[in-house]
Amino acid sequence: MILVTGGAGFIGSNFVLDWLAAGGEPVVNLDKLTYAGNRENLRALDGDARHLFVHGDIGDAQLVAGLLERHQPRALLNFAAESHVDRSIHAPGTFIETNVVGTFRLLEAVRAWWGGLQGAPREGFRFLHVSTDEVYGSLAPADPAFTEQHQYEPNSPYSASKAASDHLVRAYHHTYGLPVVTTNCSNNYGPYHFPEKLIPLMIVNALAGKPLPVYGDGRQVRDWLYVGDHCSAIRRVLEAGRLGETYNVGGWNEKPNIEIVQVVCALLDELRPRVGGGSYADQLTYVKDRPGHDRRYAIDARKIQRELGWRPAETFETGIRKTVQWYLENGDWVQRVQSGAYRDWIATHYAPA
Ligand code: NAD
Ligand code: TYD
Repeated sequence: MILVTGGAGFIGSNFVLDWLAAGGEPVVNLDKLTYAGNRENLRALDGDARHLFVHGDIGDAQLVAGLLERHQPRALLNFAAESHVDRSIHAPGTFIETNVVGTFRLLEAVRAWWGGLQGAPREGFRFLHVSTDEVYGSLAPADPAFTEQHQYEPNSPYSASKAASDHLVRAYHHTYGLPVVTTNCSNNYGPYHFPEKLIPLMIVNALAGKPLPVYGDGRQVRDWLYVGDHCSAIRRVLEAGRLGETYNVGGWNEKPNIEIVQVVCALLDELRPRVGGGSYADQLTYVKDRPGHDRRYAIDARKIQRELGWRPAETFETGIRKTVQWYLENGDWVQRVQSGAYRDWIATHYAPA
């Protein structure tokens, strides 16, 4: 079996669903259920004996040690993290707690357990750390895309905490021989994406008749990857990634934020025309920029293609259409994740200056 952490979040839940749908081994899913974790994402697995959900913290050494002893996983995939840049600017503490200290404690628990293994289980074990392209910092418009050799230059508390976790993972391989592999992926989008991030926030606000808040001039560039493609990249790296290596994962899809918002509006205009006419783009509004806002991320994903034969299956056009359709069909999910805590965040963060 495999142990997944953070498997009730956006990418983790997509991964667990895809993994089991593809006939993968049973999953033990350890998740703290923060505001971003949602058991409902995993509802399709209710009653499925191949999925065991455990409510807990990656920083709880005793709990993790017990899970490793009891289940003897052949791999651990670490998705658990605080993941929202804006929240890391408002309140960085939890990012240090989970992304740095939590990852450290997780590594320690794994090191202690793995150190006692012998033979094939020891040789075959993998610790796969899921990370982000944001650790590399920001690019100027004409700079080449990030390769795995790019210097780490994190700019937000979020990316700094992820960079720290990547360094710890690297050090546990170098110092203790722990069989690790790390992925650094660009911005994901798709089903179960919490509506605090750009794409789901725009869909949800548009449908609710609310403003579509674009930070600064809207010309910041991100590389976008459909979440199912990220999951297939992780499966491939788990299968054949070289130990101690990092693999950049990206969609070859660099786009300025304003274009993303316009595409979302155009799709909504087509699929759910506005009552009373006009375009959802009429709701677009420019708001104060994010402090320290990274201008551009771009991923050079040639290494994973060359070494492991992975390429994304979706184009941005196919992926974003599926995503908008998913949100249109899953209004109940959206309503339920918009709890009191979500409303408080929106009210604080988007309050008029
Ligand atoms: P998310 O915020 O949607 O989900 C995070 C999950 O981790 C939640 O279910 C939460 O409850 C859980 N969690 C948080 N703290 C925990 C703790 N201490 N112990 C156990 N569980 C805890 O995040 P996501 O977008 O699914 O991202 C997953 C991973 O992928 C993160 O490590 C993130 O840095 C990385 N990543 C995300 C993106 C993206 O575009 N979303 C891109 C590249 C990499
Ligand atoms: P986000 O989805 O928060 O991801 P990240 O900051 O990790 O890239 O934001 C994506 C881009 O969209 C980023 O440049 C910030 C911008 N953005 C807005 O313009 N308005 C918003 O309301 C949000 C949430 C993001």
